[in-house]
Amino acid sequence: MDEREIKRLGTYGVIRGAKYFILGAVEEKPRAMEDLGYTMEKIILKTTSLGLGTCWLAGTFRRSAFAEKMELTESELLPAITPLGYAAEKRSTLDKMMRRSAASKKRKPWSELFFKDVDKTPLTEKEAGNFKQVLEAVRIGPSASNRQPWRIIREDAARFHLYLEENKMYNRMLGKIRIQNIDMGIAMCHFELAARKLKLPGSWKVGLEDPFHTDMQYIASWY
Ligand SMILES: Cc1cc2nc3c(=O)[nH]c(=O)nc-3n(C[C@H](O)[C@H](O)[C@H](O)COP(=O)(O)O)c2cc1C
Repeated sequence: MDEREIKRLGTYGVIRGAKYFILGAVEEKPRAMEDLGYTMEKIILKTTSLGLGTCWLAGTFRRSAFAEKMELTESELLPAITPLGYAAEKRSTLDKMMRRSAASKKRKPWSELFFKDVDKTPLTEKEAGNFKQVLEAVRIGPSASNRQPWRIIREDAARFHLYLEENKMYNRMLGKIRIQNIDMGIAMCHFELAARKLKLPGSWKVGLEDPFHTDMQYIASWY
């Protein structure tokens, strides 16, 4: 595509000069958002390791224009895209403003994200033992508007349950595209890659019942 055509596709000025985009489309079915978050984040981490710049976009792009270009079918959704290119050396004013409004540099402390029981007693870094770096990899991950909706309850030394602390209004504003469920897939990707790197045991199990019957949205368990 030439540059004029890409401009017409549109990211509302958020992304400038990008010639390439990765488009993340999924069949509409249960857990599609988590799958997309997990898979696209793997691609993003790989391309980042090659020195390329990316940016998750689920809100600020003209979905219909990109959908048309890729000939999205009736049964598919296009939840997110990322440009792929070399990042500018200096951030634009719009970029700086958006990052400030989302407080993009900051992350919530451990005590608000990771717990050792259903009453949300904080799990300390020390108590996390071998899994300290694994949980840290989740904590530093990206999330839509940097809302960081992931919560993890540790049941025992190597058994963890992942939940979404959903902001219902925010998560449902794009209809069937559940932006915070994409965040959960990203968290699963970070958790798994860190655990594999550290040669820790376990894998994600999905489709189970919430073991703690919490008021959060249960996503998956690791053991
Ligand atoms: C699922 C998802 C959707 C996002 N959508 C947008 C978007 O539409 N526009 C945008 O500028 N940033 C978007 N972001 C980027 C986040 O705002 C950013 O990851 C967060 O503020 C943390 O900043 P950092 O990734 O630089 O650490 C999105 C991130 C995720 C994970």
